[in-house]
Amino acid sequence: MPSISTSLSWFSILGLLFSPQTCLALSKKERLACQNPTHDPLKGCPKHTLLVASGSSNATAKKNTFSSIQSAVLSLPHDNSTQYILILPGQYTEQVNVTRPGPLYLLGQTSDAESLGRNTVEVVWHNATGSATTGSYDNAYTSTLTIAPTFNSSATGSGPTGNPVPEDTPFGNFDFRAYNLNFTNDYLPYAAGPSLALSTSYANTGFYHCAFKSYQDTIYVGKLANSYMSKCEIAGQTDFLYGFGTLWIEDSDLLMRGCGGGITAWKGTNTTFENKYGVYIHDSNVVAANSSVAPSMVLKCALGRPWNALQRSIFANTYLDESIRPSGYIEWSTKEPRVNNFTFMAEYKTYGPGWNRTGRIEGNVTRILTETQWQPYSSPSKVFQFFKSGKTGNTAWLDYSA
Ligand SMILES: *[C@@H]1O[C@H](CO)[C@@H](O)[C@H](O)[C@H]1NC(C)=O
Ligand SMILES: *[C@@H]1O[C@H](CO)[C@@H](O)[C@H](O)[C@H]1NC(C)=O
Ligand SMILES: *[C@@H]1O[C@H](CO)[C@@H](O)[C@H](O)[C@H]1NC(C)=O
Ligand SMILES: *[C@@H]1O[C@H](CO)[C@@H](O)[C@H](O)[C@H]1NC(C)=O
Ligand SMILES: *[C@@H]1O[C@H](CO)[C@@H](O)[C@H](O)[C@H]1NC(C)=O
Ligand SMILES: *[C@@H]1O[C@H](CO)[C@@H](O)[C@H](O)[C@H]1NC(C)=O
Ligand SMILES: *[C@@H]1O[C@H](CO)[C@@H](O)[C@H](O)[C@H]1NC(C)=O
Ligand SMILES: *[C@@H]1O[C@H](CO)[C@@H](O)[C@H](O)[C@H]1NC(C)=O
Ligand SMILES: *[C@@H]1O[C@H](CO)[C@@H](O)[C@H](O)[C@H]1NC(C)=O
Ligand SMILES: *[C@@H]1O[C@H](CO)[C@@H](O)[C@H](O)[C@H]1NC(C)=O
Ligand SMILES: *[C@@H]1O[C@H](CO)[C@@H](O)[C@H](O)[C@H]1NC(C)=O
Repeated sequence: MPSISTSLSWFSILGLLFSPQTCLALSKKERLACQNPTHDPLKGCPKHTLLVASGSSNATAKKNTFSSIQSAVLSLPHDNSTQYILILPGQYTEQVNVTRPGPLYLLGQTSDAESLGRNTVEVVWHNATGSATTGSYDNAYTSTLTIAPTFNSSATGSGPTGNPVPEDTPFGNFDFRAYNLNFTNDYLPYAAGPSLALSTSYANTGFYHCAFKSYQDTIYVGKLANSYMSKCEIAGQTDFLYGFGTLWIEDSDLLMRGCGGGITAWKGTNTTFENKYGVYIHDSNVVAANSSVAPSMVLKCALGRPWNALQRSIFANTYLDESIRPSGYIEWSTKEPRVNNFTFMAEYKTYGPGWNRTGRIEGNVTRILTETQWQPYSSPSKVFQFFKSGKTGNTAWLDYSA
């Protein structure tokens, strides 16, 4: 029987020869074997998998074991090679920054990889910006996890087009994946300025059975970022999905911890090619975080508001609880609505008590899509675009088996 690494390289070669679309770096079976706790934690993992263990674990004493995720990431070559990191149970208080271009898979150890409720790893950071107590610096400084080729490409900036990214900035990671990991930014237990759990720009990033928790601007999918989340949980209060790039959320729970701004706040960009930048929430649940906060939110939370007038946001085939206000989306503010013909704040077949057709029509900001209007956005391959060319079908980095 060939070792995993041998069969992997065969798989990669075959993938390159025939179809990069089907080139799965790690089969589900191999991934589960690696994540499953065993006496030797790396048993079942691809050769050269790095091990991260929190200080309290016995494994730290072992050679080649890292005590932080960032130190393991920094030990990797800045090249196109495929790399794996297995993280043992614990709470890791650190910021993790990934700049390398090659495939990188972060795996949380777990005996039940199908259930994010049993995730054993939490990566925590505490930072926010934009208030008198914090002072003001770019949102990029606050994030728990960042995947971007350079600091400047990850900065939010301000104005209609955000922070200017130098023309010669290369694409960053083209296949980053995280499985069974929780990312938290717990600066304060309420919206107190941007406080990112995830920041990703100029990169393709996939998250499976992961949790993201903060209160404001929890997830930033920045410029030229393609991000896919499946079977995840995202908890936030104010504008908790924001960005410039493309985010597809599938089969996940969006937990409202309060109502503030909207759930989505996107800043669209005019490009020479037709872009599909935007946030697409599909087959998911949008619900109050728990029964203690639910009563105060009834009919109050907005699906989103336009960070600029080119916002594109679609909730499709998704359940909405009674927290959602009758109009669905809202204007940015009364003084500055930021709504024009280009603003695309939409729903397709949402359902549940938060869906109110009369309210949507009266509110006059939400577009209710027909099947034909939904079609151009109805799958990840239609919205994930390649760097520079803008061609759609950039999906080789997605794992539909997770
Ligand atoms: C560390 O090893 C000792 C002795 O083998 C064992 O009793 C203990 O449970 C281990 N601790 C952890 C955190 O694995
Ligand atoms: C790394 O991969 C990217 C994307 O496939 C490619 O454009 C680049 O040339 C590769 N770099 C090296 C050093 O092989
Ligand atoms: C990870 O998040 C899930 C969902 O909120 C939770 O049930 C689980 O206990 C968390 N695990 C850790 C280690 O934080
Ligand atoms: C947040 O990070 C910034 C930039 O690194 C730092 O200046 C600031 O002190 C941090 N704030 C808190 C509350 O830790
Ligand atoms: C990650 O990037 C942020 C923003 O540049 C920086 O403040 C922080 O020190 C970096 N952290 C690590 C662990 O490299
Ligand atoms: C990053 O952006 C800042 C502010 O826009 C600029 O001053 C700096 O030169 C840029 N750094 C790089 C390496 O491009
Ligand atoms: C419910 O959610 C709110 C907002 O996140 C939080 O402050 C509170 O502790 C949660 N209550 C329970 C019982 O989990
Ligand atoms: C994008 O193009 C439209 C149509 O030309 C224009 O109305 C709008 O102001 C432009 N938006 C930005 C942010 O450049
Ligand atoms: C915006 O819509 C109105 C009403 O349908 C139409 O009259 C107008 O020409 C549109 N403007 C643009 C820039 O498409
Ligand atoms: C639906 O929206 C309309 C118009 O805003 C409102 O009068 C009605 O009470 C709403 N229905 C529910 C069940 O919230
Ligand atoms: C709906 O909003 C548009 C601008 O987005 C405006 O032109 C139109 O008059 C509004 N319709 C109603 C019925 O208020």
